[in-house]
Amino acid sequence: MKKTIYNSAEAIHIDRPITDQYGRTFNYLRLAVNEHCNLRCIYCMPEEGVPFKPKDRLLSKDEICKIIKLMVEMGLEKIRFTGGEPLLRNDLVEIIHFATQIDLIKEVHLTTNGLLLPKYIDQLLDVNITGINISLDTLKEDRFKQITRRVGLNQVLEGLKLAVSSNLKSVKLNVVAMKEFNDDEILDFVDLTKENNITVRFIELMPFDSRQIWKTGKFYKSDQIISDIKSHFNNIKVVTGSKTEHKIFKIDGYKGKVAVIPSYTRSLCGNCNRIRITADGKILNCLYSQRETNLRDAMRKRMPNEKIKNVIRRAMHMKLKDGWAAQTEGKERRESMTQIGG
Ligand code: GTP
Ligand code: 5AD
Ligand code: SF4
Repeated sequence: MKKTIYNSAEAIHIDRPITDQYGRTFNYLRLAVNEHCNLRCIYCMPEEGVPFKPKDRLLSKDEICKIIKLMVEMGLEKIRFTGGEPLLRNDLVEIIHFATQIDLIKEVHLTTNGLLLPKYIDQLLDVNITGINISLDTLKEDRFKQITRRVGLNQVLEGLKLAVSSNLKSVKLNVVAMKEFNDDEILDFVDLTKENNITVRFIELMPFDSRQIWKTGKFYKSDQIISDIKSHFNNIKVVTGSKTEHKIFKIDGYKGKVAVIPSYTRSLCGNCNRIRITADGKILNCLYSQRETNLRDAMRKRMPNEKIKNVIRRAMHMKLKDGWAAQTEGKERRESMTQIGG
């Protein structure tokens, strides 16, 4: 990738970090770059999709780069591009390149369903992406079709293989764990960590789809997942992981790690360091909050940079203590995780 869209000689004015009233500091931006997806996972979207917003309401590449730059000035160290499916956005590689050229950003990661990874992995590596999280809930072809309503398991596995064999610092697999759906595959997923230096993470189902499938008895609590795994191994070693990986361990002798993410039980909130920005430029100070702060319009009104920074600071300062408190505020009604960015 030759094109430089950021002049790294341009001065970065280090400003104070973004904090809240509970003493948390926010240095990890999760930025959704689109709402569209090439899968239709049953816990996420109905077959017909959701009312996707028109392109002019989504953040442009320049707007995204401006947000990143302003946030670097306020201590941003890690950025994750999410969606929808981020690889469906055709300027994604350029946006990632913008981020990886900024020395102060230590990690530039992508969360993807993996379908388009075989096509894009070389370009992603060329622009020095540091990590890829791949969402995959089953290793069985017929079940993949049942969960995602599409075919494509082989493409995702091919993407995973290419990611594992690259020099990437971090490759993770996100498995939404569901009772009577994929709970019989937990050990097969753990097995993938035997020969591969990846982290397999089991994620609790969250109540964010309009059909509310989480109410249908599929919820599988993280503590239960751990004790089910532990009952099969007597050689488990606790290790350290990222802030969403609340319980993380290794099977002794295996190359990779296994973790659970208590995304519904929310025991991770005290550690929260995340700022979410939706594809249409709204700040969400918590995954469970329905209150949005419109950063896009603040920028489109040509607000001065200092004021835009204050909009971000204020939104994060108002963050409530945890996701349980957050779910009681605001009025937005969302139909899918694609409108939040995961
Ligand atoms: P790492 O940086 O590798 O730890 O990734 P991540 O877990 O921050 O990001 P990823 O996009 O892979 O998300 C995995 C799952 O964790 C998704 O289902 C997210 O919705 C969930 N998750 C991420 N951040 C939060 C959070 O702040 N709160 C809750 N409750 N769940 C979260
Ligand atoms: N519950 C739990 N995880 C979800 N994801 C999407 N919708 C849900 C849900 N309702 C996961 C995806 C991906 C991550 C960004 O969020 O599978 O791994
Ligand atoms: Fe942070 Fe809200 Fe997630 Fe808790 S539920 S970790 S407060 S975003």
